[in-house]
This record gives sequence, C-alpha cells and structure tokens, in this order.
Amino acid sequence: MRPARALIDLDALRHNYRLARRRHGSRALAVVKANAYGHGAVRCARALAGEADGFAVAFLEEALELRAAGIVGPILLLEGVFEAPELDAAATHGLWLVVHHEAQLRMLEATPLAAPVDVWLKINTGMNRAGFLPDAVEAAWRRLRACGKVGEIALMTHFARADEPQVITTAEQIARFDAATVHLPGARSLANSGAILGWPQARRDWARPGILLYGASPLAATDGGLQPVMTLESTVMAVREIAPGEALGYGERFVAERPTRVGLVALGYADGYPRTVPDGTPVSIDGAPARLIGRVSMDMLTVDLSALPGAGIGSRVELWGKEVAVNRVAQAAGTIAYELLCNVKRVRFEYCG
Ligand SMILES: Cc1ncc(COP(=O)(O)O)c(C=O)c1O
Repeated sequence: MRPARALIDLDALRHNYRLARRRHGSRALAVVKANAYGHGAVRCARALAGEADGFAVAFLEEALELRAAGIVGPILLLEGVFEAPELDAAATHGLWLVVHHEAQLRMLEATPLAAPVDVWLKINTGMNRAGFLPDAVEAAWRRLRACGKVGEIALMTHFARADEPQVITTAEQIARFDAATVHLPGARSLANSGAILGWPQARRDWARPGILLYGASPLAATDGGLQPVMTLESTVMAVREIAPGEALGYGERFVAERPTRVGLVALGYADGYPRTVPDGTPVSIDGAPARLIGRVSMDMLTVDLSALPGAGIGSRVELWGKEVAVNRVAQAAGTIAYELLCNVKRVRFEYCG
C-alpha cells in the first residue's frame, strides 16, 4: 500500500477549540468549511460535537453533509444562500444564515418559509468583500425584523488584517462596527483566528475560529500554544547516490555540490504538497531535521539523506505536522497554511484521538 497519509489528531483539534474559546472568553463557532480546511468536516465536527457551541460552513451543501452525519447543533452558512429554494432547506434543517447583500435580503422577503430562520447580518467595515455598508445596516436590520421570517438577528463583520496585530486596520474596523450597530440589539461576532489571538478588543458574544482549530497560527510571531492537527507524511521508497555535478529531477534544478544521498519519497503535488517550494524546504526524516532537494513531482519528491546515515528505505518523512510547522512550508511555497491544508487529497486519511 502506498505509504502517503494524513494523520489527523482529534485531541489536538479539541485542545485548539478549547484554547480559542478560553482566549475569546465566550461562545465559538468552529469553522469547518472547505472540508474542515482539508481535515475532514464530518470527522472534525463529530469530534467537536460534545463541546462546540456550533459550526460554520460556507454554503448549504456543506451544512447538509454535517446534518446527514448527525450534527444537530447550530450551523451557520457564512455565505448565506445563493438562490431562493435553498432558504426552505435552510429553515427545515435549522441552519443559521448570513445575509450580506441586498439580493439575499430581497430573496428572504419574497420567499415563503416553513419555519423562521436565524440570521447573522454581515456588515462591511472595510474589507469590501461582503456585507452591508455601515449606513445601510439599520435599514437592513429593520427589513429583516419586518419580514416575519426571521428569529434571532446577530450582527457580524470580518477582518481583513487581523493576523497583523501591529496594523491599525482591525481597530478601525471594530470602531466602524460599533458605530454602525450601537442602536441595534442582538449578539455580536467579530473575531476570526487572528483576532482571537491578537485583538482582545474584538471579543464579543461569538468567535469564529478557523485556522487556529487546525493548529496553525495566522500570526507570524507565535504558535500561541496551538497543537498541529494534521501530519502529512510518507516514507522513503528508494535511495541513490549522486556525484558532484550531477542533477536531480525535473528541470535539473538541484545540482549536487558534493556526493549526495537522495531519498525518493512517495508523495507529490497531486497529493497537495506544493510544487513551488525551493531546495532546502524543511522536512523531518525519522524525527531528524532534513531538507527537500529537487523539484516536487506529481507523485514523488526527493530529500537529502546525506547527513542521516541511518535513514533509508522505509524511513518516515514528515512533510508537515508536529515536527515541521505547516507555516514554514507555506512560507517556502509563497502561500498560507490555509491553502496547503485545504489542498491535501488522494493520501490516506487516518484519525486518532
Ligand atoms: C466570515 C468568516 N469568519 C471566520 C473565518 C475563519 O477565519 P480563520 O480561519 O482566519 O480563523 C472565515 C474564514 O475565511 C470567514 O470567512
């Protein structure tokens, strides 16, 4: 059997959820959209079901998958609905809806519903991606209240730069949010992972932690006591020596300067490991620090075993996890941990904890 696998530590997931809740000091929706950032939405939601105050996904189908798997708690659709028939499904399954633009509001006003839905009214406080502008919020709130199909109305916004505690943008967004909602009742929700860790001023009734649940801090400076949830690993399947001057792999990117023992690892970019990483990207081999050399192939990659005489066929290679922070690989690849984790596929997923 091909040894490439993603090991998902559900104890670490619960640890991170508790940390988020403790830091924020109130309820937290566990963000499990995009298949729980690549970790398996159903497994992660079940692991958290006993303690999470609720879950957040991007769209209806993601929520229905959780309901079908027996998740009974609150589930918020972060993008709301795309077309009217989804509203009835949302109401039937007791889902909470974000309403973030005029067309969604009109859809809700025009569609008969079997039961009222709870709505999170989203306010655009500067990110300019989704949400009602501050001066349109009160009118939108009143229309929601007046349409007779809405139960609770919560108020939310989303931050553009919460992962940069030294940048003033988040403080400005918080001030705009407070000014726009000062006369409105209802629960508030501002904080994503970056704000939970770096912006105590953003603490309100609900947090929405995503990436930190999976153990990757969005803040450059700290791991914040988080535990990595996914370990992406495989093994060395072949070993060869190359002489000084010999090249390795596609494009002959790596050329040996000295005799080099190369380990061939069964995992490649088709599994989600980024092809863009340079020579020298950290890996861990049988628990020892080592480096990737040569371009990543579709199903394989190559590592330098020269400093590890005990390593050979069958040696365990960790691409990221508890020994190699996914943030380090993301940085080497010119991307973010979110993208790397979401992209993992084709490997065997195994769960513990
Ligand atoms: C509206 C909203 N809230 C919360 C999150 C979770 O963000 P993070 O993973 O940075 O905690 C996201 C993710 O993109 C989001 O879109």
